[in-house]
Amino acid sequence: MNIAEKIIKAHLVGGKMETGSEIALRVDQTLTQDATGTMAWLQFEALGRDSVQTELSVSYVDHNTLQMGFKNPDDHQFLRTVAARYGAVYSAPGTGICHQLHLENFAKPAKILIGSDSHTPTAGGIGCLAMGAGGLSVALSMAGEPYTISMPQIVEVRLSGTLQGFAQAKDIILELLRLLGTQGGVGKIFEYTGEGVASLSVPERATITNMGAELGATASLFPSDNRTKEFLSKMGREDDWIFLEADANARYDDCVEIDLTKLVPLAAKPHMPDNVVPVSELAGMKVDQVAMGSCTNSSYADLKQVADIMKGKFVARHTDTCVSPGSRQVLSMLMEDGSMTSLLDSGVRLLECSCGPCIGMGSSPHSAGVSVRTFNRNFEGRSGTKDAQVYLVSPVTAAYCALNGCFTDPKTWGIPPEKPQFPEYIPSIKHHFSYPAQDEEERKKTAVLRGPNIVALESFAPLGAELQGEVVLKVGDGITTDHIMPAGAEITALRSNIPVISEYVFSRVDENFVSRAKNMRDSGKCGFIVAGKNYGQGSSREHAALAPRHLGIRAVMALSFARIHRANLINFGILPLIFENAEDYDNLVLGAKILVNTLEFDENNRAAAEVEGLGKICFKHDLSEQEFQLVRAGGLLNFIKNRK
Ligand code: F3S
Repeated sequence: MNIAEKIIKAHLVGGKMETGSEIALRVDQTLTQDATGTMAWLQFEALGRDSVQTELSVSYVDHNTLQMGFKNPDDHQFLRTVAARYGAVYSAPGTGICHQLHLENFAKPAKILIGSDSHTPTAGGIGCLAMGAGGLSVALSMAGEPYTISMPQIVEVRLSGTLQGFAQAKDIILELLRLLGTQGGVGKIFEYTGEGVASLSVPERATITNMGAELGATASLFPSDNRTKEFLSKMGREDDWIFLEADANARYDDCVEIDLTKLVPLAAKPHMPDNVVPVSELAGMKVDQVAMGSCTNSSYADLKQVADIMKGKFVARHTDTCVSPGSRQVLSMLMEDGSMTSLLDSGVRLLECSCGPCIGMGSSPHSAGVSVRTFNRNFEGRSGTKDAQVYLVSPVTAAYCALNGCFTDPKTWGIPPEKPQFPEYIPSIKHHFSYPAQDEEERKKTAVLRGPNIVALESFAPLGAELQGEVVLKVGDGITTDHIMPAGAEITALRSNIPVISEYVFSRVDENFVSRAKNMRDSGKCGFIVAGKNYGQGSSREHAALAPRHLGIRAVMALSFARIHRANLINFGILPLIFENAEDYDNLVLGAKILVNTLEFDENNRAAAEVEGLGKICFKHDLSEQEFQLVRAGGLLNFIKNRK
């Protein structure tokens, strides 16, 4: 068996390990972050359990840490008290970014981790099968329900040779994105093998597994070997290590080979992570901002290498350069060994240990500015500046962009920096986490505090036999969850308040969408969205399904769907329908009047919808029997409650 099969087999509580079959998995650990976590915890509460049922659940606050006004602090207070009440660990704002913290402190080889953040697969760098999911799936995992997915294909990524020159781990995953594209990993787990694996440290591996999310992959996995043992013992967690690797005769569904010796520094150009070219092709382009950190590249080694390059030099005056360390532990190490002094002396701005600029939470580029980032996403507008041009690069490339004020050819960079080793002394940050009382009776005495920004969930009506309504929005290919439910400080602060946040749905795509959808809903009819390929790619944010559902959307008709968003649509009672004939996408226009009979799907899951003036258009769905029952019930929460 390969590693993925070994972990899945040990956690299988339902289904067969056959590609495409539905499997149910026991979940060991969960993580939530504040932007998705308030809703996940409200959903957990709605399930009526007294305690979390996992080995470990951690509630991180790392996204909305600016605390402008009462909304973010209300959320943080709720998350702190709800974790104490139900038995989860709480990580306060400023402690660090969930994935970096989880890797350093909690993730374990051979475990299954489900997180309400699309970059949860980061923990695959330590040999943990870690998957991003909607908040509702995480709430159910916390309640002890199994996590259900289709058995993915397992793809071997064979790394030969070792990285040379200025190429870094980031360039490995950028190369994979260049080769496979942002849809290349859908329905797949990427498992890394080959001689190159041993040359990569756990933080380097975690950079790669982190951005497996940009390939659309279910998860990415590295073995748990001596490098893993070394990392865990440095973190004071040697006891968490076990040896885990694929059998010598393991089989894979597919194989991709990357020769590490041939890799050069790469950059993803605006506005997609797979728009990848060699950095040398961009030489001469002025850089207005450099932002370093994020859950992709904020480890000690990443930032120490940058500090070593910057030591005794100055960032270009026109290049605003900032760094957000991944955790307090990373920050402490950088302070202890003088690296932070080198960074600050060179003119770098120090930001909090949080997501920050990655989601436009401060440090946005100026209008039309070129921003070079060590992050994982460069979607249009995500930086907080609509017309910014964001490039994704490795920390070393970012450092040279900051010093030179422009992209330069790596051939001019001189001698490549040494790969940093962990310092001898690593300060512990365990005391920064809040641990719940062991005794459940003790925990029950904790009052869960709710400010006005915490609004209880509404209950959604089940799906009727007939869906009658109009197309209230038509969009093209590649619609991201950022398009559907924009990020940014003002909006993400409202994630525990569905009626208010719904006002922003598609606000950057079509400012009249909300009023059209509301009119349709208030007239007692359904709203439909028509979309092209890969609808809902990007993040796991379930608000991109929940808020449209609040606005009366009952079906999305698309050419294809992104995996996590498809699950979120189902979880909130929205029917994901696929065009049987791609040309019908062109025929279905804004305002088209449609009647779908949900009882008429045949054994091949096909049904014809009546479209006024056009006649019949054929749709299909790829829902399992259980998924269809969820949509019928009006969503997963209704389904579980009815089951009880
Ligand atoms: Fe945070 Fe950006 Fe990662 S928002 S969790 S640093 S993708």
